[in-house]
Amino acid sequence: MSNLEELRRRHAGAEAGGGEERRERQRKEAKLSARERIDLLLDADTFEEMDKLVRHRCRDFGMESQIVDGDGFVTGYGLVHGRPVYVFAQDFTVFGGTLSETNAQKVCKIMDMAMKNGAPVVGLNDSGGARIQEGVVSLGGYTDIFLRNTLASGVVPQISAIMGPCAGGAVYSPAITDFVFMVDKTSYMFVTGPDVIKTVTHEDVTKEELGGASTHNTTSGVAHFLSAGDADCCAHIRELLRYLPSNNMDPAPVVETADPWDREEKALDSLVPAESHQPYDMKDAIRLVVDDGEFLEVHALYAQNLVVGFARMDGRTVGVIGNNPAVLAGCLDNNSSLKGARFVRFCDAFGIPLLTFEDVPGFLPGTAQEWGGIIKHGAKLLYAYAEATVPKVTVITRKAYGGAYCVMGSKHLRTDVNFAWPTAEIAVMGAEGAVNILYRREIAGEAARLAKIAEYKERFANPFVAAERGFIDDVIEPRETRKRVIRALRMLRNKVDTNPRKKHGNIPL
Ligand code: HXC
Repeated sequence: MSNLEELRRRHAGAEAGGGEERRERQRKEAKLSARERIDLLLDADTFEEMDKLVRHRCRDFGMESQIVDGDGFVTGYGLVHGRPVYVFAQDFTVFGGTLSETNAQKVCKIMDMAMKNGAPVVGLNDSGGARIQEGVVSLGGYTDIFLRNTLASGVVPQISAIMGPCAGGAVYSPAITDFVFMVDKTSYMFVTGPDVIKTVTHEDVTKEELGGASTHNTTSGVAHFLSAGDADCCAHIRELLRYLPSNNMDPAPVVETADPWDREEKALDSLVPAESHQPYDMKDAIRLVVDDGEFLEVHALYAQNLVVGFARMDGRTVGVIGNNPAVLAGCLDNNSSLKGARFVRFCDAFGIPLLTFEDVPGFLPGTAQEWGGIIKHGAKLLYAYAEATVPKVTVITRKAYGGAYCVMGSKHLRTDVNFAWPTAEIAVMGAEGAVNILYRREIAGEAARLAKIAEYKERFANPFVAAERGFIDDVIEPRETRKRVIRALRMLRNKVDTNPRKKHGNIPL
């Protein structure tokens, strides 16, 4: 056989993976193959595969006679919306997509290249974890990847899609990456599976309940996006990448828009209900302000009292954070603090300006929150806002009470431009709570109490006290929010701010 024929034979072997029978099993489970997934992720005909001819080196357990070219991981690079992206995809038909020494080297190779060339890494996971036949060599391989995930954090965006099993220590690579997508019904993630749990804690739980896409999107917050199927997941990742810069030195791509930068939006004037306790959906405010009403929500199903996601203003990416009065009255709690802190840090690491919409009555009271660590979790969000040096603009739509006022992008945390709507209430606490404390001893009767509440509201439940101090740069009409925020962001385009020299801070983890 000529070398050309041999090359073709090996390529065909790599493409066949674990064979038709195993591929058919994948299809029956509504799972695409590793190569089909890569094709859907990348721009058409841009994939350059690397290490397709790599073979495993295991000579135990009969492995010497089971060799598949490429060894089951498909790795390489291509383009997404015309920009380079590095990608690896685990082929479950080859030894269950497991990680061998050589597969680890393949992944490390593209990660090293991504770091040198400043491009995102996308991992499409579908694997039984460490290849048992290779023992500690496989564990070493995983750890080599974890190290690179950590070193790449904040340098290039890292995205994980879970499209099948992801169990044991293998979960920690996706966990370090910036965004985790999970495919509904076909993916799961856990450190120890149902059988081990049954033995140790006697709990009965299914794989889906324990670590399915729905669980990790709603309950644990491990996943940021829930996708309906493999194709949907790849499309979803492409959409996210469109908002992101390729690395921490490049700007995010500018997407031209026909949406006028100075568009006035009358609907904003009546968005906040007259009654201060009434809910409204902050996502309505966000969509009315940003370019073309397009908002890519991150963690949409988790801690919904805080909304985070990407949008564009004036064609440029912004990270939007908003308290949502429609859920838990918009209170900050443990989960939303973590969610917000991680998002703020991602944006800051990648030079994405932060736009905060604030309507927060405070931190959620209760033993569950206090014992769950609201002190340290709330501090994470505070810390993240404080250390962020990207352009920061805050719009207070209604409540900004207590510690939550301080945390949510206040002027005191180096926010550049702070606006408030006339409906803003900026104070240490709400009127009722304040009156109950201040006049506990002297108030006799309901009428007197109500009078004091009215007096407190008149004095503090407005934006003017803060504006008089310069903590608010201007009180603006809601309808002009888009124009005013865009002007602020344009003014801040060349912002340079720094933190004191240090190895790294010690965020209260
Ligand atoms: C080698 C493996 C394997 C593994 C699966 N296979 N897991 N081979 N090492 N870890 C092989 C199977 O032998 C089978 O080969 C093929 O992959 C498909 O597996 P099935 O069991 O038939 O598939 P399914 O029923 O869908 O179950 C998938 C699974 C199960 C749930 C992932 O295979 C499983 O529980 N595997 C073990 C998972 C595990 O414990 N991994 C170690 C986790 S610890 P054939 O030839 O029949 O097709 C870990 C440590 C990382 O990963 C540490 C980092 C520090």
